[in-house]
Amino acid sequence: MSLDAVLARIDSDLPAAMDRLMDLLRIPSISTDPAFKDSCDKAADWLVDDLNGLGIKTEKRTTPGHPMVVGHIDGPGPHLLFYGHYDVQPVDPLELWDNDPFDPQIEETAKGQVIRGRGSSDDKGQLMTFIEACRAWKAEHGSLPCKMTFFLEGEEESGSPSLVPFMEENAEELKSDIALICDTGLFESKTPAIVTMLRGLLGEEITITGPDVDLHSGMYGGVAINPIRVMSRIVASLHDDEGRITIPGFYDGVPELSDEMEAQWQGLAFDHAAFLGDVGLSKPAGEQDRTPLEMIWSRPTCEVNGIWGGYTGDGFKTVLPSQAHAKISFRLVGDQDPLAIRESFRALVRDMVPEDCEVSFNDHGAGKASMTETDDPSFEAARKALTEEWQVPAAYVGCGGSIPIAGHFQEILGTTPMLIGFGKDDDALHSPNEKYDVESFHKGIRSWARILAALAR
Ligand code: BES
Ligand code: ZN
Repeated sequence: MSLDAVLARIDSDLPAAMDRLMDLLRIPSISTDPAFKDSCDKAADWLVDDLNGLGIKTEKRTTPGHPMVVGHIDGPGPHLLFYGHYDVQPVDPLELWDNDPFDPQIEETAKGQVIRGRGSSDDKGQLMTFIEACRAWKAEHGSLPCKMTFFLEGEEESGSPSLVPFMEENAEELKSDIALICDTGLFESKTPAIVTMLRGLLGEEITITGPDVDLHSGMYGGVAINPIRVMSRIVASLHDDEGRITIPGFYDGVPELSDEMEAQWQGLAFDHAAFLGDVGLSKPAGEQDRTPLEMIWSRPTCEVNGIWGGYTGDGFKTVLPSQAHAKISFRLVGDQDPLAIRESFRALVRDMVPEDCEVSFNDHGAGKASMTETDDPSFEAARKALTEEWQVPAAYVGCGGSIPIAGHFQEILGTTPMLIGFGKDDDALHSPNEKYDVESFHKGIRSWARILAALAR
């Protein structure tokens, strides 16, 4: 089984692989917006066709939401499952894009060539790294090195509403020895990384209603309760002056870092100044007794993602609004219980809503944090393979983002997730002008080929 031949084929096939990725990027599969339902379906069809072309028996499987793509191919052990998501985030604010987000371009930049477009990094470019590695392997050897299942989702960016029921219904079919997930990044854009800690996520939307209708603030201001004032007090009360979250019981289940992990993270020499400097900031704004790396990887957060009400259009309007709204999300760690936090949060909010106002809540999903033990020898095998490709020792790291399926693999299927990705910090995930470095794509494909060879042995 020659790995060198596979790597050489990946190198020579790179332009064609980039064309295939650009083709997939042209499909605007925005999962959260019903207007793009057909495009999500089209992206699923594209992947079904591509995988079937590789001899992987693949089907589009319907769900109440967007379809899942599931494929199987037999082979020697171990049985690997690969997960990625073909849906993407909305593109607004569209005016901040330099180009059409769904007309991807290859661009030369000061840091090298990039593929620019929505989904180039999150997650179409990443998921294609694995498929391209399989393509090259199949072309060289006529078959794949392991038994494999492909499991591609179209709702990851909108909270994966169909995922748990689908996994429960198809648990026997999806069980495998290890679940490879390509939806994370390199450490500081340079060091290959295996993510072992992911934060959970809890989403809440609050609506506070005061007067029945918007009022003239000259006639009613000062007398009538203003729901935006009420909302502002509530939002401002969620953190104290030290950056700690004030919801009763919020920190229950938040573990302190083990000495071993603390030492390992210290060894990573994270560049705090550059991390904030890259986005025009300088001072960490979280819990004052924690390092920025802890704040992102191992501490919980409460963030206001949006707040609105009253008049926000051009010009000025002297209105006293009837309603105020806020979307608030919590990143969770360790054993924090999302449902207990939701209850405690709602109780705190209800307590602060005065007479004459009403509050209602909208639930935007809840998922626990997940953590992976790395004692299975396949982790060291994968780490060695990554180190060989990137010529920098691969690191075990945390990740501030959330990938709910990692926990579901453990809980529903009893399968260990292995999170490896090649995104860079400046990929502009979820933002205008998202990009994926050609280096990430190329070396990502090569990395998977090396990992497959290592796991197959
Ligand atoms: N690919 C990201 C997760 C991620 C974020 C990895 C940052 C590395 C760095 C994933 O697609 C994502 O954005 N997840 C959402 C989850 C949510 C919508 C349930 C997130 O973290 O906000
Ligand atoms: Zn993603």
